[in-house]
Amino acid sequence: MPTPTDSTAAATSAEPDTTPSENPVIEFVDVEKRFGDNVVLKDLNFSVARGERVTLIGPSGSGKTTILRLVMTLEELTGGYIYIDGEALSHEDRDGRRVEVSKKAQKQLRTRIGMVFQQFNLFPNMTVLENITEAPIHVLGRSKKDAVAKAHSLLEQVGLPDKANAHPTSLSGGQQQRVAIARALAMDPEILLLDEVTSALDPEVVDDVLAILRQVAETTNVTMLIVTHEMAFAKDVSHKVMMFDGGHVVEEGHPDKIFSDPDEERTQKFLSAVLGNN
Ligand SMILES: Nc1ncnc2c1ncn2[C@@H]1O[C@H](COP(=O)(O)OP(=O)(O)OP(=O)(O)O)[C@@H](O)[C@H]1O
Ligand SMILES: [Mg+2]
Repeated sequence: MPTPTDSTAAATSAEPDTTPSENPVIEFVDVEKRFGDNVVLKDLNFSVARGERVTLIGPSGSGKTTILRLVMTLEELTGGYIYIDGEALSHEDRDGRRVEVSKKAQKQLRTRIGMVFQQFNLFPNMTVLENITEAPIHVLGRSKKDAVAKAHSLLEQVGLPDKANAHPTSLSGGQQQRVAIARALAMDPEILLLDEVTSALDPEVVDDVLAILRQVAETTNVTMLIVTHEMAFAKDVSHKVMMFDGGHVVEEGHPDKIFSDPDEERTQKFLSAVLGNN
């Protein structure tokens, strides 16, 4: 099985090189995702370095959410390979054959990845505290005491120290999203996936949620894959912006370049439409 350190296998193999490069924490190699006959992603190759924050932009239906859901193993990969820290996430190349990795290995890798969704997706039948401690206790095997202590500290961090015993339904959208962020951070993820986390929020609370995420970006080394329409936020926090269309990377680069002087007309048109200055 080719691994990041197993360069000989790749060098001597006549098969296409499916070996991840040296250090990326996320690597897509010839990724294909189809829903029935609808090929949403095809031959998609990109990598994200440790601690890198990458924003995906592009029109509706271009495949942004699908990319995050594949990393979170919420969608089945129909072709190619995704590597997390050099380990195959769902499929691996074994002597030229593409085979599924064990569910156990997949589950193990998934514990290192957190995701925050547009619609919060909190467990409605659990309190805020239970939402945040559930996975650390039952997936990571942390003690209840430690998990609860960390949950309180995270609730402090997201500005909700007095909501531990509240139920999600009694919280505003902005508060629910802050709990969802705390829940993701409670797992100490190496990778944080953010899918339009402010799109369902009232405009006046968007900045509060973005401020929390900026702080996470500034104070941790967590690798982030971000889908957002908040271009000012994307510009501030991202090291790299990737513009997608039709499941392909149209162009990628530093946010200063992509947002102010993109090379591709498709990117210019998209940004004009989003920023409303066409
Ligand atoms: N569960 C599904 N079943 C069938 N088709 C799907 C499914 N999920 C996504 N698709 C299709 O995949 C394509 C990409 O969808 P995706 O949600 O990734 O786009 P997106 O870039 O996130 O769009 P948006 O900006 O609207 O959120 C679309 O054509 C969509 O219809
Ligand atoms: Mg989407």
